[in-house]
Amino acid sequence: MDSRSWLLLEPDPPELRLPEDLRARDPFGGRDCGWVAQMRPFVRHYAAPGARVFDPFCGFGTTLLAAALEGRDACGLEIDPARAQLARERLHRHGIDAPIATGTLPETPAPAPFDLCLTNVPYFGCRWPGEADAQAGQLYLERDYEAYLRRLRDLFHAVRDALPEDGYCIVMAENLNLDGRLLPLAWDLARVLGALFVARDERLLCYRREARPLAPGDARSDRSHEYALVFQKQRERVCLDSTRDALQALRDAGFAFDLYGSYPRWLADPGVREPADADLLLPDDQAEFDRLLWWLHERDYALSLWGEPLRPPLRLPRLREHWYVRAQRRDRLGRLVRLDLSLADQAGRQTPAAR
Ligand SMILES: C[S@@+](CC[C@H](N)C(=O)[O-])C[C@H]1O[C@@H](n2cnc3c(N)ncnc32)[C@H](O)[C@@H]1O
Repeated sequence: MDSRSWLLLEPDPPELRLPEDLRARDPFGGRDCGWVAQMRPFVRHYAAPGARVFDPFCGFGTTLLAAALEGRDACGLEIDPARAQLARERLHRHGIDAPIATGTLPETPAPAPFDLCLTNVPYFGCRWPGEADAQAGQLYLERDYEAYLRRLRDLFHAVRDALPEDGYCIVMAENLNLDGRLLPLAWDLARVLGALFVARDERLLCYRREARPLAPGDARSDRSHEYALVFQKQRERVCLDSTRDALQALRDAGFAFDLYGSYPRWLADPGVREPADADLLLPDDQAEFDRLLWWLHERDYALSLWGEPLRPPLRLPRLREHWYVRAQRRDRLGRLVRLDLSLADQAGRQTPAAR
């Protein structure tokens, strides 16, 4: 892979395509089968030789085939048992024996530990021929866009848990045209992934299609591109000077709070690992909490509850359920301040891993 932010992809040679007899057995005619050529550059660039590549939506096994052709191990998950079987048969024909489990994250774990997650998401609004109750969790059958994004969030949360530190999660997706409107699926997905991983880059994947003239004012392009969204599991560095200034600004505005966790530990001993956030313990006072959230909101902090955007106010019982609200601000030099707000009476309790 070189430094260009786009890749022009050519179709696979016949010997690497999904064989016709397997395609004919798929009720969807294998229409959503990707190209080996799409995955190979990412395997080469982001997985060291001998590393294992995981595809949580492995479909017909295209990513797994790409990984094996590049000398990497592979494993996959696929919710549709018939497809999982087609993928196994396809790989066997290439002499490849990669574990493929039937099921979905987070309920079914990846069948083996992995170093790189590389996948194509199932699109929202797809006219999948299966029955909704026959395949609970099948994202092609999800009726509501928000529920679809929530499900992806839970699924990639499980990917993050299983990925080693510094491992990449690369997801291919496109914005869709649904009912004459652009549905920015790729961008919404980038936001979902951005709450779980550090965004590293995007690559535009371009496909050759024959151009056709458009009537003036006709806004529909042929959508012959998609995105590879490149994310990494990494502790994001906060700016310690900006964090100190932000805490001072809070004190100057009259907010009472205690600091706990890694930030005061680092203040006491700068030799320890730098904190990834500042944890604030707040008094159990709804009015003060509302004032704090509005104060942050007005200063352009992004507020979120387990990765979901939040607008004030927030009732304290809801905060208790979620343990903390995250308030985050990035300035134009890229300096990040991240404050996690929880109630003082929750300090002694074990918080779940940051979601
Ligand atoms: C775009 S296709 C993947 C095709 C694959 N990249 C290939 O080229 O062989 C998406 C796949 O995700 C599967 N799928 C949908 N919802 C799922 C879920 N919740 N968990 C696992 N697989 C799911 C679908 O059955 C479909 O096979």
